[in-house]
Amino acid sequence: MSKSNILDGKVVIVTGASSGIGRAIAIRAADHGAKAVIVSDVIEAPREGGEPTASEIRKLGTQSVFVKADVSRRADNNALVAAAEDFGGVDVMVANAGITLKTDGAEVPEDDYRRLMSVNLDGPLFGAQAAARQMKALNKRGSIVLMASMGGISGAGITVAYSTSKGGVVLMAKSLADALGPDGIRVNAVAPGTIDT
Ligand SMILES: NC(=O)c1ccc[n+]([C@@H]2O[C@H](COP(=O)([O-])OP(=O)(O)OC[C@H]3O[C@@H](n4cnc5c(N)ncnc54)[C@H](O)[C@@H]3O)[C@@H](O)[C@H]2O)c1
Repeated sequence: MSKSNILDGKVVIVTGASSGIGRAIAIRAADHGAKAVIVSDVIEAPREGGEPTASEIRKLGTQSVFVKADVSRRADNNALVAAAEDFGGVDVMVANAGITLKTDGAEVPEDDYRRLMSVNLDGPLFGAQAAARQMKALNKRGSIVLMASMGGISGAGITVAYSTSKGGVVLMAKSLADALGPDGIRVNAVAPGTIDT
């Protein structure tokens, strides 16, 4: 696995980091020199688990804690970012948490639709807001990364709600980059294709 020092001294938060892509990002952040990685998820152990992920990061010589947070809740995002103060404040916020639906498509049920939007669209906005507020307060020129998807660029009939949420994330990143750029805060979206997690 390649290593670098591009995150030397940086404090990184990753949401949805107990499994899958988020877990890989959190571990790779340590590989790239992060001073501290905050592993966050709504539950401690969806698959590999939050505390085991933080423990693996500590073995790499990087400080790490697991912080439980539901990204759909504004207060949880604020508390999550506040936890970074113990390490000097957040430099990189990766709003990775996201869900798909068993029943998506043109007739997506209302409850499922609202739940998905609250995680996939409210989540990254609240996370970015909390991170940007702290970055500005601490005069940090930080970076915010939102997890979009190729589905949010191409769209698909079997993922109407999911694709809509991820398309929103792409424009959220562009809009927040415009809003926060003058403060030296970069905002980008990543749009993966299918990743076998
Ligand atoms: N795997 C893919 O093919 C793929 C492709 C494109 C984009 N993505 C996106 O990448 C991100 C990660 O996906 P993954 O494949 O690793 O999925 P995953 O299910 O392994 O990981 C998602 C994590 O988010 C957490 N989560 C769910 N609801 C949450 C909430 N309310 N608050 C906090 N955490 C919550 C889950 O517990 C889980 O650990 C998602 O945003 C997903 O949409 C995935």
